[in-house]
Amino acid sequence: MKPLSGALAISRRFLEPVSLAIDATCGNGHDTKYLAQLADRLYAFDIQPQAIENTRAAVAHLEHVQVIQDSFVNFRQYVSEPIDLIVFNLGYLPGSDKQIMTQVDDLTLVLQDMMEQLSPHGRIVMVAYPGHPEGKAEADWLHHTLSTVDPTEFHSFFLQHINGINSPAQLYMIERNAR
Ligand SMILES: C[S@@+](CC[C@H](N)C(=O)[O-])C[C@H]1O[C@@H](n2cnc3c(N)ncnc32)[C@H](O)[C@@H]1O
Repeated sequence: MKPLSGALAISRRFLEPVSLAIDATCGNGHDTKYLAQLADRLYAFDIQPQAIENTRAAVAHLEHVQVIQDSFVNFRQYVSEPIDLIVFNLGYLPGSDKQIMTQVDDLTLVLQDMMEQLSPHGRIVMVAYPGHPEGKAEADWLHHTLSTVDPTEFHSFFLQHINGINSPAQLYMIERNAR
């Protein structure tokens, strides 16, 4: 069996079949391809032309997947319905320009809007890589922010791969309570 990416290895246990999902950072399309098996409709975002090209090639045959070259910050321009699942594989694209990486400022801008648009029991799954300074800043920000969300509206969780090597991935998840 092909080994899973760091993000999927830690997050797939929390991924279930859903109606509408977003891959917020599609990169080379590995996660998009996996999520396409779980979602009736999937929107995949990335800001890098190379990432969009690679993801389009990975899911070219799948009509229920829309690949969009834009920041996840603008997701509301494309998706207005309640969202069941949003996945962020944070950081930079392996084998690509490491200057282009996810930013805490963008997460700060968008997280509240995404939480508001979750369906009942909808989830946001975020995988952070604290092995580089920007990844550590993202993980710290997520830890603080998710610790303080209103528990009457959302549950938030943290999972760390404690026997992994080279500062392995950390998973953060927010789940909307039923209403
Ligand atoms: C760790 S990689 C994603 C890997 C991908 N999920 C895969 O399966 O190959 C992170 C990606 O986030 C993208 N990115 C950074 N900032 C972004 C933003 N504001 N909106 C969308 N994508 C962004 C980068 O271009 C990069 O491709």
